[in-house]
This record gives sequence, C-alpha cells and structure tokens, in this order.
Amino acid sequence: MSAAADPVPGLSVRQRLYGVRSRLRRFRWELASGGRPLLRWFPRTWFTDPLALVDICSPWEVAWVTRHAATRLRGTGAVVELGPWLGDVTIGILRGSDRNPAAADVVVDAYDLFVFDDIEVRTAGLPLEGRFGDGDDFLALYRARLGGRGNRVRTHQGDVLDATWDRAAPIEFLFVDVAKTWEIWNHLVTTFHAALDVGSVVVEQDWAHACTPWIHLWHHRWRSHFRELEQVPNAGSFAFELTRPLPGAALEPTSIDDYPDDEIEAAFDWAASLVDPDRRPNVRAALVQLHTLHGDLDVASRICVRELAASRIDSELVDVALPELANRLAADDRPGR
Ligand SMILES: C[S@@+](CC[C@H](N)C(=O)[O-])C[C@H]1O[C@@H](n2cnc3c(N)ncnc32)[C@H](O)[C@@H]1O
Repeated sequence: MSAAADPVPGLSVRQRLYGVRSRLRRFRWELASGGRPLLRWFPRTWFTDPLALVDICSPWEVAWVTRHAATRLRGTGAVVELGPWLGDVTIGILRGSDRNPAAADVVVDAYDLFVFDDIEVRTAGLPLEGRFGDGDDFLALYRARLGGRGNRVRTHQGDVLDATWDRAAPIEFLFVDVAKTWEIWNHLVTTFHAALDVGSVVVEQDWAHACTPWIHLWHHRWRSHFRELEQVPNAGSFAFELTRPLPGAALEPTSIDDYPDDEIEAAFDWAASLVDPDRRPNVRAALVQLHTLHGDLDVASRICVRELAASRIDSELVDVALPELANRLAADDRPGR
C-alpha cells in the first residue's frame, strides 16, 4: 500500500490534538456503556485525526463495521456504502477486510453527492474552520483520506436517486446512511435492498433517530424476512441479516397511505423495542415525524403530546420532532389554528 498524503496538511500538533481530552472522556464513558466488545476494533486514529471532528457516524459504528468486515464477510457479494461522507466507515470496512482472507479483495461501492452543504457550520470554531466551503466538491478529500486503500473503493458521485444496481449482482453488506426522504428510501429498496442475498447484512444507520420513519415501517412489515442482529453500541445504527428472500411486494414503493394506523403504531413499538432505553425516545420521535411530514398535523400533535408525557427531555423528540412540528403548525394557516 502506498503512503497516504495528509488530507488536511498544515495543521500544528496542537491543532491535531484539539479536543483530545473530551474525546478521551467520551471514549472512556462509551467504552463502559456497551463499547467493550468493540474495543479491539476501535479506530485508533479517532483521537488525533482532525477530520474525526466532523465525522458524522460514531467511532463505534466504525469499530462495528471493522469487526464485521474482519469476521463476517465471506467474499460472496458486493459491499455497498450509501452516504459515506468523509469515509470513516469506508476506512473501517477496508481495515477489517484487510484482516479477513475471504474478503481481502473486497471493493466498496460508495454512493454520495460528495458536495458539502453544511460544512461551514460543522467546522465553525474548530481548527478546520475556513478550509472548506458549502458547495465544495469533497470527492478528492474523501479519496485522500482513504490513502492507499482507495484503490479498493469505486465512487459513484451524484444524486443517489439516479443510482442503479444490477439486481443479479448480490450485495453481501449494505451500509445505509442516505435514506433521508421517503422518495430516496423507495429508490434504495428497489435498487439496493433488492440485491441482498440470504445471509447478507444491512445496517440502517438512521434507526435510532427521529428523521427517517419510512425505514421503521418497511422493516417492521418485512421483519419475518430478517434476523435482528444488534444495535451498534453508543450509536443509532441497527444491523439486520436477511434470512429469506424478499417478495416482490417488499420492493414496491410505498407511502403513508399504504400503512393502516394500527400497523404504524405496532411498527414504532417494535422499532423502539430493539434499541437501548436512552435511544428509544428517538424512535418514538420518528412516529411523530412521520405524521408531521406525511400525515395530519392534528394527529402529529396528539401523538407528540402523548410521547412527551412519557419521554425524557434530552431526546430527538424534543430536539428534532417537536421543532419540526412547531414549524409546520406555525406555517399552517387553516382557520381555527
Ligand atoms: C449523514 S451523512 C453520512 C455520514 C457518514 N455515514 C459517516 O460515516 O460519517 C449523509 C451523506 O449522504 C450524502 N447525501 C445526502 N443526500 C444525498 C443524495 N440525494 N444523493 C447522494 N448522497 C447524498 C451526503 O453528502 C452525506 O455524505
């Protein structure tokens, strides 16, 4: 492997070590709260890599995919990552596969716009401030960070809504962190989930979060086709293994009208039950978000109050779902509001 060029040259050691104490404190805390089985796979660079300050996935998700690639990949199909951002998870997959003779030749197909839209906010106050601008293409930065392992990554730059995949080419491992709208989710299911083989694993990064309720609805409806593997400790990701082929109906696009009320309630009870108690309110928040974005604001308000009565203050119910609902209610000028 050739030596990697520094993706963010010119930083002092002091700047590189920015925030190292708080990273250490977080690491020790999270190690004690479920991280220990992943310690061996934890990314060592996380303490000193300045780009780790703007990584969106947790280092435990990186550790999880590293372990998965090292111990579970069989080399029987493709590895696809949807929404890799700056490549922390991609590197984890490649590092893990380096240690797995069955997967040593694995190539990651990575789909992203590779264009920054909120990097200025993300880097404000950090040593990286001013280096990158919203609208900048970050494909070269992604590639530079991969270093010599980059020759095992095929990048697909553009809107994932335009992405295609040959269903006849099985996907053995799918990491999904781009299902940010229902339209995208419908496209992912018909394009990528459709190529999962029995025994394949899909990680839904947005599981223990509020913003992507279509993921919970779909997985609940087709849950008898998957084994629930685990929630990644200290993170929102949940991993499923396909245990029997998906029927054609599972690959059809859906909307909220395809889900009766009792199925919706059952889906979120089930989805929340899969995650740790701290993150359950985030999944409950996704139920509110579902009605706010795609249903009726009166129903969303009623469910929001019910969930607030039962939930902790510091959750995405309060930080994400409630503000979104408040915005929509404020913009709703129907008489009587
Ligand atoms: C939450 S971030 C992913 C974080 C990443 N998994 C990590 O390891 O830190 C979502 C990613 O999806 C990409 N993205 C958002 N909308 C997209 C679209 N319509 N098509 C392709 N990529 C998109 C963004 O550029 C971003 O890199």
